Amino acid sequence: MANKRELHKQEPFYKQAKKEGYRARSAYKLLDIQKRFNIFKRAFYILDLGCAPGSWLQVAKKFAEENLEKYKDQFYYRDHYKIIGIDIKKVSPIENINTIKADLTKLEIKEQIDSYFRAKLDIILSDASIKKIGNKFTDHIRQLNLCYNILGIVKNNLKYKGNAVIKAFQGSDFDTFAKEMKSIFRFLKSYKPKASKKKSNEIYLIGLQKK
Ligand SMILES: C[S@@+](CC[C@H](N)C(=O)[O-])C[C@H]1O[C@@H](n2cnc3c(N)ncnc32)[C@H](O)[C@@H]1O
Repeated sequence: MANKRELHKQEPFYKQAKKEGYRARSAYKLLDIQKRFNIFKRAFYILDLGCAPGSWLQVAKKFAEENLEKYKDQFYYRDHYKIIGIDIKKVSPIENINTIKADLTKLEIKEQIDSYFRAKLDIILSDASIKKIGNKFTDHIRQLNLCYNILGIVKNNLKYKGNAVIKAFQGSDFDTFAKEMKSIFRFLKSYKPKASKKKSNEIYLIGLQKK
């Protein structure tokens, strides 16, 4: 019988990622979110929390580069992009992207973000997930604690009208977090992308247009 690793390799999104040069199948979750909510519109300054191995960074870079060509008009436009990815794990380098090996819950990270961008961000992404221990309730609460830390960064560093994506796990306290996130955005959507595994309780909260 095939083991978990072998089954993962037979999975269609895994195969597609290999073929298209993405570092992880998670790329298709972000591409799906983009297709549905157009979160990268005019995004030049981008932060990706929990970024290893880097497929969301690859997707973010693709849209930032497209935006440089697409939005040369009188509205909000920059002639360059800046992307930072943060993870406790090391990320192999990606050209023009700054990666920091650090725990996003630590205070020092805020200074590093501020000093690199020296401006508010257009979009903040988080696919960060805790290491599951297998108890659904405990994992849900631990993940929400991480989400509250991420929301703190969103509150401080995201620009007016900016967008954010945060991964949570469904469970009893999900609505309380969603309500808190909703309070800082004009619109809040929750979405389970097609590439999310059916049995997974992960769900993405998408905040559109920060107030
Ligand atoms: C599902 S993976 C992210 C995959 C990534 N979006 C991609 O497409 O390559 C979740 C990541 O969150 C990171 N993570 C979890 N807690 C973290 C923390 N406190 N600080 C930084 N990274 C964290 C993990 O190390 C892990 O690499």
